[in-house]
Amino acid sequence: MKVYIASDHAGYELKELIKKHFADQFEWQDLGTHSTESVDYPDFAHPLAEKVAQDNELRGVLICGTGNGVAITANKHANVRAALAWNEDIAKLARQHNDANVLVLPARFILPETAFSIIECFFQTPFEGGRHTQRVAKINIR
Ligand code: RB5
Repeated sequence: MKVYIASDHAGYELKELIKKHFADQFEWQDLGTHSTESVDYPDFAHPLAEKVAQDNELRGVLICGTGNGVAITANKHANVRAALAWNEDIAKLARQHNDANVLVLPARFILPETAFSIIECFFQTPFEGGRHTQRVAKINIR
């Protein structure tokens, strides 16, 4: 499965660990950043969101220090549902209830092992549909 991934400098190390850990499961499309040199998170979140917004089947993983910067940025794009998750339950519910298509991780607040479990949960969990379908359909305002 092809998955886009991007981070700022705060998320760079976790991004690299994630790519390595899931090298066999996912075909990572790394949109940067490529070092721990300080950068501006929108410069990486916007390009990923543009990719995901174009194709309903595409998924993304965004990482910054808190997760909030990249989540706020990505959610400016229509059809992008970026969900910040710091444990498995939140990741699971983001898929079941919100049909999230971008998983956002707070690199400075979770351990790499937790990030791995969250990713497994996110990608294994389907959207529940039902009553959530009409709610998700109401999210876009443009
Ligand atoms: C970078 O220092 C930090 O502000 C960024 O990674 C993120 O947490 C912003 O929301």
